[in-house]
Amino acid sequence: MNEQQRVDQAQVKQVGKKFVKQEDNINRIKNTSSEEMIAKYFQTSYEPQAPDIKKARKRRKEDIQFHYDFAIPEDIEKIGKGKKFLIRTYGCQMNEHDTEVMAGILIEMGYEFTADTNEADIILLNTCAIRENAENKVFGEIGHLKPLKLEKPDLIIGVCGCMSQEESVVDRILKKHQHIDLIFGTHNIHRLPQLLKEALFGKEMIVEVWSKEGDIIENLPKARKGKIKAWVNIMYGCDKFCTYCIVPMTRGKERSRKPEDIIQEVRHLAAQGYQEVTLLGQNVNAYGKDFEDISYGLGDLMDDINKIDIPRVRFTTSHPRDFDDYLIEVLAKGGNLLDHIHLPVQSGSSEVLKKMNRKYTREEYLNLVKKIRKAIPNVTLTTDIIVGFPNETEEQFEETMTLMEEVGFEAAYTYIYSPREGTPAARKVDDVPEEVKKQRLHRLNALVNKQSAESMKKYKDKVVKVLVEGESKKNPDVLAGYTEKNKLVNFRGPKSSIGKIVEVEITEAKTWSLDGIIVENMVEVK
Ligand code: 5AD
Ligand code: SF4
Repeated sequence: MNEQQRVDQAQVKQVGKKFVKQEDNINRIKNTSSEEMIAKYFQTSYEPQAPDIKKARKRRKEDIQFHYDFAIPEDIEKIGKGKKFLIRTYGCQMNEHDTEVMAGILIEMGYEFTADTNEADIILLNTCAIRENAENKVFGEIGHLKPLKLEKPDLIIGVCGCMSQEESVVDRILKKHQHIDLIFGTHNIHRLPQLLKEALFGKEMIVEVWSKEGDIIENLPKARKGKIKAWVNIMYGCDKFCTYCIVPMTRGKERSRKPEDIIQEVRHLAAQGYQEVTLLGQNVNAYGKDFEDISYGLGDLMDDINKIDIPRVRFTTSHPRDFDDYLIEVLAKGGNLLDHIHLPVQSGSSEVLKKMNRKYTREEYLNLVKKIRKAIPNVTLTTDIIVGFPNETEEQFEETMTLMEEVGFEAAYTYIYSPREGTPAARKVDDVPEEVKKQRLHRLNALVNKQSAESMKKYKDKVVKVLVEGESKKNPDVLAGYTEKNKLVNFRGPKSSIGKIVEVEITEAKTWSLDGIIVENMVEVK
């Protein structure tokens, strides 16, 4: 299927009993006033409407199609010559990587990167919807950009990423932020060239958010940030439907890339000299579950990638429910598979986990940890935790504190629960005051800091392998990099070690980082 056929096919979607063509919507938008536009737009063309969990749960039967024919249309191939773009990224690694793809597309169109808003001809905000404060930040930035747009009417400002998949967000931008030129969803990234053309030559705001989420487009260009570490998507979407989480609605259903495409990408990165890859997915352990013709999961993929000559391989994010014995067996082989596992637990209370629809109990999580530790004795575990889930009791919170200690997590990303419109948990009446939630977060963070500091102390006077990424942000005379267990190390050494894995002797352990000195000048180790 070529680009035009795909576009035609994907642009047609069922709304009620009618099919609506995206082009027609754009024309309609262009020919109507903003108020009319909002009303008509949401009646006719926008799916999903408000994130709809029932609709989302029914989506499994759709086919997944793979495309290898992305190309920038000839008439807009050089449209960006002499112009500059800036993409501001919010949120997770998936967004970081999507930004690399969008940057790749823009560079192919002739645009150059700039970090200066005043210099940019295109500004894209690649947004995150996971918590309310992430959204507030974006709306703040949208407001800040208004004077610039008034000063430079030709500037194109676009909003993309997870927030653009939410009706309430699109609605708010349409009503209150008319200086935005373009809104597009997470399934429409490959349409950036055509959308830009519409935005450049049209007068109205262009909105394209598809609910069609089954496609995987393989040959999108990527402008990777750096030449040392690379993100590699292995799957998209999530079907876990944790009750607090917006991701299954903003990122669509689970769909896995073909093993051969992933392996080829990793091989290519290795050949280019990359030292580390992180395999990405919202729920990487579900990798391969959607394959109908082969039985091949994350364990098989890791086993195949273990054979590729690239020094470090990580993966994120795991779901405990799908962490199977075969994956543990493969990870225990070591080699380039690092012994650091990020395993979000979310809560230490089985009752809360049930309400969260996490599909495991505290005991099952602890058993999994036991199994992993038995197979990989030196493993480092880190996690994500939400405090203040609706009606979380003091006892339930205490169970999270004891689990934190019992597992011995060396780091944790901790969050106060944030209600997300359209998710089941957001409908719950919540009797926990905000102040109590803040105190719980504070207590949890004190414990996280203590455990992190303790884990760091073990490294004092020891030699660790560090992948050197560059100069330290605080001091250009100091280099910075990460150990196999993802501990940040600041050390003195020659600049020529940047991009290499070197041995560093740790002289001081801090709460979140280590200080050290390179062992011998330029010992490169693999
Ligand atoms: N409120 C707070 N934290 C959340 N996360 C996901 N959804 C929410 C929410 N509604 C957290 C989870 C997840 C991490 C990426 O973000 O801990 O693992
Ligand atoms: Fe969200 Fe992760 Fe749960 Fe999926 S597994 S719904 S991404 S928290």
